[in-house]
Amino acid sequence: MRFITTLLPLALGVTAQQYAGDIISANLPTIAGAEVAFFKIPDPTGASNLTLINYYSHGTNGGRIVESNIKRAVISLHGLLRDPNNYMTDTLNALAQAKASDANINADSVAVLAPYFPNGNDKYYAYPWTDGLRAGRGSQTSALVWSGSQWSAGGNNQYPYTSTNTSSYFVLDTLIQYFADETLFPNLNQIVLVGHSLGGQMLQRYAAVGPDLNVRVPVTYWIGNPDSYAWLNEDRPLSTAACPDYDEYRSGYSNYSDYPMTYGVDLVNQGREAIQANYQNKQIAYARALLDHGDHSSDCGANTTGADRHERFFFFIQSWRPSCDDPASDNCDTVDLINVSHDNGQMFNSPAGLARLFTDNFYGARNRAYDFGYPRAQAGDDPYPDPAQESVPNAGINYNVYAGGMTYQGCWTNQQPVTPAALPTLLYDNAGNSIEGCVNGCLGAGFSIAGVQNATQCFCGSALNAQSAVLVVDTSCRLACPGNTAQICGSINRLSVFSAQYPTFA
Ligand SMILES: *[C@@H]1O[C@H](CO)[C@@H](O)[C@H](O)[C@H]1NC(C)=O
Ligand SMILES: *[C@@H]1O[C@H](CO)[C@@H](O)[C@H](O)[C@H]1NC(C)=O
Ligand SMILES: *[C@@H]1O[C@H](CO)[C@@H](O)[C@H](O)[C@H]1NC(C)=O
Ligand SMILES: *[C@@H]1O[C@H](CO)[C@@H](O)[C@H](O)[C@H]1NC(C)=O
Ligand SMILES: *[C@@H]1O[C@H](CO)[C@@H](O)[C@H](O)[C@H]1NC(C)=O
Ligand SMILES: *[C@@H]1O[C@H](CO)[C@@H](O)[C@H](O)[C@H]1NC(C)=O
Repeated sequence: MRFITTLLPLALGVTAQQYAGDIISANLPTIAGAEVAFFKIPDPTGASNLTLINYYSHGTNGGRIVESNIKRAVISLHGLLRDPNNYMTDTLNALAQAKASDANINADSVAVLAPYFPNGNDKYYAYPWTDGLRAGRGSQTSALVWSGSQWSAGGNNQYPYTSTNTSSYFVLDTLIQYFADETLFPNLNQIVLVGHSLGGQMLQRYAAVGPDLNVRVPVTYWIGNPDSYAWLNEDRPLSTAACPDYDEYRSGYSNYSDYPMTYGVDLVNQGREAIQANYQNKQIAYARALLDHGDHSSDCGANTTGADRHERFFFFIQSWRPSCDDPASDNCDTVDLINVSHDNGQMFNSPAGLARLFTDNFYGARNRAYDFGYPRAQAGDDPYPDPAQESVPNAGINYNVYAGGMTYQGCWTNQQPVTPAALPTLLYDNAGNSIEGCVNGCLGAGFSIAGVQNATQCFCGSALNAQSAVLVVDTSCRLACPGNTAQICGSINRLSVFSAQYPTFA
């Protein structure tokens, strides 16, 4: 095989073909219900044809799907571990759950594709490698391979070394166009892109810079539990003082062209409003695991958008409100709060996961399940609420009245030491802390605001420091008070605040 480097004009057309890529012989595991398949991807110049390794589902008879019977395509993106085999298995297990409630939803009507974005650690396992060649030349096949985790941000491939301008986002474009091809899939009603964790990051950033491909069926972007987001403007909810590069891609969009990618540059050059409009044109299904307060983000930009995945999610949807003017439209965002941990299998198998992945619009009638997850965690998290659930109170809110008429005023950040303290006086830090203890102590010392933090700490003041204190989602404050474990006493750098009036700022 050789790669010609002449530039040929190429429309962004549907030339990719499943099974038509080169067969890349390596050591990927075989799994039940799917095969390792090879998708032909033209490089963006048209000078060569590259190969996307993927897992592709089989029909119920164990053979290849019959394209004309397929009603839905689910493209399931792996996370940091680059394990498309597991994502395929988890997606197929969820498909079996969906089939249990509607037998028409099955492996003959739903095509599942789990693309593989391998990196250098996957040589021998995912693609052959010849030792002893010049640096970077050991991959001699057309297999698409990226560097590190750059696949998750749209980075260009690194192998084959003769053709290194294929963005992982161009690959997603190609997959969408492939399934939207009416000749091949005449009965397709819906495409769902599914990304959890780093796959969720991949999708959020893709939704922002990917063009409207004008395909003939709705495309949903299911974004589950990303560590971080590319923030769509230059504002940040939290202090940027400790992170001067907070707006560089992948946290924001400055220095976009310094990232090793060629995709989306024209849009980004048009400015943030163009990016926001492009993002808001997409149908996003937000999926949030309520027990997931983790964070594996590797750069400080994420910290300027929240303490962890949970807080960042609520800040993000507060800044860019999900919308659903018409549930039957092709641009209805949904918000599902799912009471599980950071686990894609649990997310997929939840009622919300099954609806978004498999049942919404299955028959092409634009029907959609109501948003899942009550009570609301924050106003605005729910563009398409089930009216029957509207009155369910928010379990994260404390409705009690304490001494001096003090009531709960929300969960606030204390961004010390990046900023001054949110409340100036640490009254005590001890294992008997309770809301009453802190409220009474602060009142007795002449303060009008009491804040309990990190379980054991009691802070007092008469105003919140405006640089330090930002209102966050109530469920960010989640540690039990050691003196009364039925109460919530903030979290690390998060204050449950009590006062008789809404706090003033200093
Ligand atoms: C790539 O594949 C297409 C068919 O899918 C073919 O027409 C084209 O010539 C191939 N390009 C190269 C550079 O081999
Ligand atoms: C490939 O991308 C680089 C930037 O990453 C660019 O300089 C070069 O012109 C591109 N080559 C082709 C053939 O598009
Ligand atoms: C980002 O761009 C600025 C201004 O052009 C430059 O000074 C800085 O070095 C760039 N940062 C990175 C990481 O390339
Ligand atoms: C983000 O903030 C947390 C808490 O202050 C800190 O432990 C962590 O190191 C920060 N992460 C980065 C990448 O700066
Ligand atoms: C969520 O799950 C946890 C652990 O299984 C349970 O303790 C909690 O009550 C559940 N919360 C809701 C709102 O269902
Ligand atoms: C929070 O509390 C834990 C457990 O007491 C302690 O180890 C940690 O240092 C505290 N962190 C802060 C920032 O106060």
